[in-house]
Amino acid sequence: MRLLIKNIHQLIQTKKNNEVVKGKAMKDLPMIENAFVFCDDGKIISFGSMNEINEAEKNANEIIDATDCVVGPGWVDSHTHLVFAATREEEFVNRIEGLSYEEIAKRGGGILNSAKKLQAASEQELFDSAWQRLMDVIDMGTVAVEIKSGYGLTFESELKMLRVIKRLKEKSPIAVKATLLAAHAYPTEFKNNHRGYLDFIIHELLPAVAKEKLAEYMDVFCEQGFFSVDETNELLEAAWHYGLPPKIHANQLHHSGGVQIGVKQKAISVDHLECVGEEEIKSLQGSNTMPVMLPSAAFFLNLPYQPARKIIDAGLPVALATDFNPGSSPSGNMNLVISLACTQMKMLPQEAINAATINAAHALQLENELGTIAFGKTANLFITQKISSYAVIPYSFGKPVIDKMVLNGKIWKQNF
Ligand code: NIG
Ligand code: FE
Repeated sequence: MRLLIKNIHQLIQTKKNNEVVKGKAMKDLPMIENAFVFCDDGKIISFGSMNEINEAEKNANEIIDATDCVVGPGWVDSHTHLVFAATREEEFVNRIEGLSYEEIAKRGGGILNSAKKLQAASEQELFDSAWQRLMDVIDMGTVAVEIKSGYGLTFESELKMLRVIKRLKEKSPIAVKATLLAAHAYPTEFKNNHRGYLDFIIHELLPAVAKEKLAEYMDVFCEQGFFSVDETNELLEAAWHYGLPPKIHANQLHHSGGVQIGVKQKAISVDHLECVGEEEIKSLQGSNTMPVMLPSAAFFLNLPYQPARKIIDAGLPVALATDFNPGSSPSGNMNLVISLACTQMKMLPQEAINAATINAAHALQLENELGTIAFGKTANLFITQKISSYAVIPYSFGKPVIDKMVLNGKIWKQNF
């Protein structure tokens, strides 16, 4: 199947290499105006200015006229919890009335509330609701997604969640990566027996997950009241033993030391970063760990936004993700994340787009397949409505301007 997209107003992110974009370079968003892209057999084969198009490209089986539209490589969402059993709007109301996220968690709400509901749900129910969420995020421009466990918190339920993620991966038209997050919260029965829960993860769960190849990464919620730095270190060491690199929750609520332990353990990414100062920045400099920011979680919990400017101005890269989950970010809309990055974190549209494409692809080790418009990459593209420039993507906050998706070189239609 040969597909031609022609007359593209702006073809964005035509970066020539797959390297991480850092510091000042985040302001550069390479693009071609009045452009075309030609895809064959699911891959990007050629692209360029309309006056370079050749006869073979013009004779594609399918042609899309993208006059006045922006075309880009699609968003990579490197941090979600999109398998869950139920929404948590009662906690949302409690927070409006004055309770904090941490207070709700201490009373057995939060993650433990979601765990109780997930434990009671069947694998099929979880699959069906997660599948719908996956379809919805694709329609909003997402072309790869990471999904975490962490609402199971028992042997059976963590495996149940990971098997749901495995099924999503098998059926999904986009790349899905799975992360083991059993260390999301201490289950009630282990509240006073942390050692017991750590031993359970290290000696029972991790070997079973590795044996069934159910996860690619290991996550720990390294935070006061959740998992300490030492506990995180021990868990990540054990995960490396099974070949699972870390991608961790760090510094969401406090200066917890999570960033430093993530860097020490060679994490692919450290995510959240609401609380980041000089020490965390110093530790990230010289490391290959990607700082991933989740502004929709800060928005929804009314927490201070992540200091993206400080991080970028220190010469570091930033990636953006949604954190899609029922407690702190019940939205998988990457366009909104990009808008928040611009309006609240003072990132320029081109910085936010770099953060949501190539840098996000690095946070999922997918930089050779996705994240830019380049020869041989998977033809997963978004086509916007008619807009005057790519800056309308974050400007039009709350309403995605994505009109069509191309996945694996074909026009994507839900339920098709
Ligand atoms: O990334 N902070 C830890 N985990 C999730 C939220 C979990 C929940 O509230 O259900 C997060 O924000
Ligand atoms: Fe999260």
